[in-house]
Amino acid sequence: AVSPLICPSILASDFARLGQEVAAIEAAGADWVHVDVMDGHFVPNLTMGPDIVKALRPHTSLPFDVHLMVAPVDPWLEAYRNAGADVLTVHPESGPHLHRTLGRIRQLGAKAGVVFNPSTPLSILEEVVDLVDLVLIMSVNPGFGGQGFIPSALGKIARARTILDRAGSSATLQVDGGVTSANAAACVAAGADALVAGTAVFKGGEAAYAANIAAIRTAC
Ligand code: DX5
Ligand code: ZN
Repeated sequence: AVSPLICPSILASDFARLGQEVAAIEAAGADWVHVDVMDGHFVPNLTMGPDIVKALRPHTSLPFDVHLMVAPVDPWLEAYRNAGADVLTVHPESGPHLHRTLGRIRQLGAKAGVVFNPSTPLSILEEVVDLVDLVLIMSVNPGFGGQGFIPSALGKIARARTILDRAGSSATLQVDGGVTSANAAACVAAGADALVAGTAVFKGGEAAYAANIAAIRTAC
């Protein structure tokens, strides 16, 4: 099996040392940096804006995978792209015109991602499959790190894999929420090729990051 991309969520990192944290996960073998942007409105938590993403950009050469939990999302796309985001992932519920939003993201030169909450139907994917470079399946309700993996996400990953394959899409299929070395293999077997992990990567402090990432890879 092909090794999945490991995308540590810096939501679980030390916010007082964000620059060092992104450098540390790069040194520890991460593939992407997953940035959780929350607005205190679309989700009940508040994290970081584009100025923080911009400030982090010189601290790592890894791609920035920016998960936008913001509504309305359209007014923010350009700011995050200019701040150095490589992937911009949006929830269908964060604006009235998902098709247009995804087109705008590509127009900005970023990879366009669409993300499905546990209750959001995958039928939406059928309508935008040609417009997406990444599909993210949430395995928790968004807003907080450290939650438990919702098992029904595995079936949803498999259904998303089928939709992508049937459409001839090479989009990345990513899973986010409660991912650990105990469930990573099941995610990959279901068809995921990118794993977001916050708590499972950042637990134990900087000295443990390389082993934490390796444990997830080895499990797959
Ligand atoms: C939840 C975020 C996730 C989450 C991952 O709203 O999108 O990225 O922080 O953290 P863990 O791996 O701790 O569930
Ligand atoms: Zn996320």
